[in-house]
Amino acid sequence: MAKVYESISQLVGKTPLLEIKNYEKENNLEAKILVKLEYFNPNQSVKDRIALAMVEDAEKKGLLKPGYTIVETTSGNTGIGLAAIAAAKGYKFRVYIQDNVSQERFQVIKAFGGETIKFSDEPVIAKALAESNGDFVAAIKAFREQVLSKEENIFFVDQVSNPANPGIHEATTGPEIWEDTDGDVDIFVANVGTGGTVSGTGKFLKSKNPDIKVVAIQPGPNSLPSEENPEPEEITGVHPFEGVDKERVPSTMDLSIYDEKFEVETYQAFEAARKVAKTDGILIGTSSGAAIYAATELAKRPENKGKTIVAVLPDTGLRYLSTNLFKEV
Ligand SMILES: Cc1ncc(COP(=O)(O)O)c(C=O)c1O
Repeated sequence: MAKVYESISQLVGKTPLLEIKNYEKENNLEAKILVKLEYFNPNQSVKDRIALAMVEDAEKKGLLKPGYTIVETTSGNTGIGLAAIAAAKGYKFRVYIQDNVSQERFQVIKAFGGETIKFSDEPVIAKALAESNGDFVAAIKAFREQVLSKEENIFFVDQVSNPANPGIHEATTGPEIWEDTDGDVDIFVANVGTGGTVSGTGKFLKSKNPDIKVVAIQPGPNSLPSEENPEPEEITGVHPFEGVDKERVPSTMDLSIYDEKFEVETYQAFEAARKVAKTDGILIGTSSGAAIYAATELAKRPENKGKTIVAVLPDTGLRYLSTNLFKEV
């Protein structure tokens, strides 16, 4: 029987789970690390899942109609996923992006016909960021209230407050992990940006087995801007959820879902990403390196001997070739 797809929207999800056998051996690990390779999505990141889900949810609710422009404010992967889905479905797309995001991301969105605007070039966002010492949530809220609410025929996606974001992880990422492991999973590890991945997937896995331990990753203190170090090398897409004002945590992050918060420094994420590229031939981004680093440290704990750890790897290393991640290669 022929198997021909008719839209990239049919290619989202169902990503493979890989045991990084050579890496386990090289590190003398006595627990299994299974990685969910989200770069198998049509635009090489986990964000394809939420891009499609948030667009189709809006279509169903009548919030997005033919001729509308899809608008988002994002540091990258969601913008790329949305740009592709918008192109495939015939919508216009406009995105506001943080200035320090790698050049590839801007180029890819433009290639899909999307319009990109830097935060520093949008007066309301730039002013709000300057006045709040870089508080994203506050800046986007101000932009939404002062600018977007007055514009017609747009759909503002807003991944940080859109319930379809954790919702699609509960509906797809969680069930895929459960089915592909036959329910044999002890620990689930994920990064936190919007919190959609850890919240939705964690919710599904715990509904199947409340003993599954959910570990949520946040950047270590030396990988976050501070007075002594205002511009550290950061882990793209990953943000703190503990030790910050509650208003800074997106509503898509369920703070009751995780059992352990795990801090990873950028250099540790880099090292893990570089290592696994050489041992197992998978090229991944910085946050994926952070997930592997956390999974490795968990695997080393005596109480986790013989356990199965599943880590979500959000995106491809190809999106980081102009960053410091693979500079040493
Ligand atoms: C590269 C990368 N890693 C990790 C994440 C975190 O995923 P989530 O937003 O589902 O918490 C994001 C998203 O912001 C991302 O772009």
